[in-house]
Amino acid sequence: MELPVIDLAPYLEIAGDRDGELPSGLNELCREVSRLLEETGALLVRDPRCTAEDNDRFIDMMEKYFEKPSDFKRLQERPYLHYQVGVTPEGVEVPRSLVDQEMQEKLRELPKEHQPFTPKGPDPKWRYMWRVGPRPLNTRFQELNSEPVIPEGFPEWKETMDSWGYKMITAIEAVAEMAAIGFGLPKDAFTSLMKQGPHLLAPTGSDLGCYGQEGTVFAGYHYDLNFLTIHGRSRFPGLNIWLRNGQKVEVKVPMGCLLIQTGKQIEWLTAGECTAGMHEVVVTKRTIDAIKLASEQNRSLWRVSSTLFAHIASDAVLKPLSHFAESHIASKYPPIPAGEFVEQELAALAPIIKTSINFKSYKGVMKFWFTNCFAGSLEHSEGTACSSTFFSALVQLIPCRAAVAPFSPIPPSEACCNAIKALGQPCLCVLVNGPPISGVDRNMALQLPEKCTANFEPCDIMK
Ligand SMILES: [Fe+2]
Repeated sequence: MELPVIDLAPYLEIAGDRDGELPSGLNELCREVSRLLEETGALLVRDPRCTAEDNDRFIDMMEKYFEKPSDFKRLQERPYLHYQVGVTPEGVEVPRSLVDQEMQEKLRELPKEHQPFTPKGPDPKWRYMWRVGPRPLNTRFQELNSEPVIPEGFPEWKETMDSWGYKMITAIEAVAEMAAIGFGLPKDAFTSLMKQGPHLLAPTGSDLGCYGQEGTVFAGYHYDLNFLTIHGRSRFPGLNIWLRNGQKVEVKVPMGCLLIQTGKQIEWLTAGECTAGMHEVVVTKRTIDAIKLASEQNRSLWRVSSTLFAHIASDAVLKPLSHFAESHIASKYPPIPAGEFVEQELAALAPIIKTSINFKSYKGVMKFWFTNCFAGSLEHSEGTACSSTFFSALVQLIPCRAAVAPFSPIPPSEACCNAIKALGQPCLCVLVNGPPISGVDRNMALQLPEKCTANFEPCDIMK
């Protein structure tokens, strides 16, 4: 299946500063944008401000960088800053499909031909983190005040990163405006929430010379937790996306086009009208053809993906907007500050991290409970052992998130009650006696056994 390409030029020419009615042709175009985001979770666009030459310049520089020896690249590694800037080596990022049990169950229901490849462990790809755009002076979600990292021998680094990053953000903003209009929202419904968001240019580098076998998974099946993700065209194919109907599609990005994908934050804002697009990056037959051609032409065998994650501002509240609040499933998307939402999503990745060779580097990301969490099996005060780690017990309770949010009126779902019963009383008591968990009200958690008729003994609460 070929995804259609939306040319942003007509919208940019007419709609730039205009707040009133759009010509009917442009309204149609906006509706097409929202329809495609809804049905496919992906959108191919052509933006005259982001040219193929811009993309080439960026990819050329990143290929040159990723081709450097590991020892050189590790000089830009900042594990003590939790990889928020600089390089993240291969083997550190964890595909969500390895740790999310709900997701694994859904995958088993897909027909064989639409199932994703199974990752064997952390992704074998490198990534470079470069923050783009201004950040708020006052925020509840302070980022680390760290200097950007610039590798030696790349005098063009800052200018290239900033200019490509800003250009891709402008493309995202245009799409976000068009989608808002298409959904019947004010033009700035999304973009006003994106202002001063923690946008991140985060290109990846995958060594196809080393890992070029068909079926190698560079990014295991996952969704993105941000608002919208944008990429320039990669020189090597390999991205598979899943449409709303569960169909798996290999994406072909035409020359000079950009690919936009929906993340979890747009799902929240539209109460599931758009869902976060599932995707994976694997070595396919087409990747192998591109590897052969690149080898013949003596070109780099590093697959660079010029990914930019556009976010909703951390202090802005994620909740279904306008008429989406009337959706019958709006309660699945309770209001939550975007920064808190991101913390929760990261926490769900915690259990696998302890098995990764680099797990200690994640301690800042998991800031609220790290010191208590790597102790292995935890003992309950009554002497009955909880055989899970704090992390894995926490992950088992993911289906209960909505029911344990502070002041949540939502009763525990069947999946949550099943999880509570499977978890057992000792582990629940370990959790409620553990360090505070962002987005979880301890008293609400304590009420779960009763609401689920689980007949647990009450926990001894440690003061
Ligand atoms: Fe992704």
